[in-house]
Amino acid sequence: MTTAVVATSFGGPESLELVETEVPAPGPGKVAISVLAIGVNPIDLKLYGGQMGNDPGSLPMRLGFEAAGVVTAVGPDANGPEGPVSVGDEVIVFRISGAYAGDVVVPASALVRKPVSLDWPQAAGLMLTGATAVHLLTATDVGEGDTVLIHGASGGVGLMAVQLAGLRGARVIATASEHRHGLLEELGAEPVTYGDGLLGRVQALAPDGIDAALDLIGSDEALETSLALVADRDRIATIANFSAGSAGIKVLGGGPGADPGEEIRAGARVPLARHAGDGSLVVHLGATFPLDEVADAHRLVAAGKANGKVILLP
Ligand SMILES: NC(=O)c1ccc[n+]([C@@H]2O[C@H](COP(=O)([O-])OP(=O)(O)OC[C@H]3O[C@@H](n4cnc5c(N)ncnc54)[C@H](OP(=O)(O)O)[C@@H]3O)[C@@H](O)[C@H]2O)c1
Repeated sequence: MTTAVVATSFGGPESLELVETEVPAPGPGKVAISVLAIGVNPIDLKLYGGQMGNDPGSLPMRLGFEAAGVVTAVGPDANGPEGPVSVGDEVIVFRISGAYAGDVVVPASALVRKPVSLDWPQAAGLMLTGATAVHLLTATDVGEGDTVLIHGASGGVGLMAVQLAGLRGARVIATASEHRHGLLEELGAEPVTYGDGLLGRVQALAPDGIDAALDLIGSDEALETSLALVADRDRIATIANFSAGSAGIKVLGGGPGADPGEEIRAGARVPLARHAGDGSLVVHLGATFPLDEVADAHRLVAAGKANGKVILLP
């Protein structure tokens, strides 16, 4: 048996409960993992918050797309993207369903080796934001010599996108609250405060124009500023505004009409682990909570006050 988190109704964090559940022996192509850290993402809250549909048939709902831990059992023919899997392997699992648990049984295809230099919380918080950032940068073809505007650059996806755009040789202009500007500067970006006058502040920083824009917020301001600054709409992408397709920009992710980019995101995992392992990509942690304080963890994420990845520890 293991402890898992489920949402028993659609609503806020009060809907979350801990339950005891069976851990089946892994079947063909599957492995069992003892989970040591779990990444929390805003989508986890949206799923039981009703923003992505409210079919009562999906309750009780297991949560969580990413975790890190140790392989405890291996089913027949269990090969990961990096080859055969063995008991004792330290791994990152992404993308899976129901990561909020002490033990999970998952397809071996979801496993990536955890770099030894990464601690468990960093490993658990790397993949969802990192793979999303890779998808954004690939879809907008950001590369050497480009100037890219990133809206919401101080969040989980934003900090990944800032670093990965830098690794691609791009100049990054990054919107964030002022108390986050220091970190963005350390990461090589040029921070600007969002809100009234954003367009003028970005134009002052980049009088020759912006080549690509990434919207991680979904606000009217992010969309309008991007449309005003970037000539080629194929080089504007959003992960948070699912009605923006009518403006001719790219809408990415799991929402209606969006490009899920499954191959790009899955293919990003091994390179992300390599970058994180050699220190060229850093997972910025906000707070960790024991699994039984999951509701408080979600309240922190909902309040937008995490200042980095929120991690659950079973
Ligand atoms: N479609 C997909 O595939 C996909 C994948 C991952 C995430 N998402 C979505 O993308 C969004 C960001 O995810 P995340 O994990 O990065 O969230 P997060 O870590 O909670 O970050 C949210 C950030 O938003 C910033 N912010 C709030 N209001 C803002 C505004 N008006 N303008 C600019 N920045 C603002 C905050 O920055 P300050 O503290 O600096 O104010 C905060 O750091 C969420 O809506 C999430 O659901 C979508």
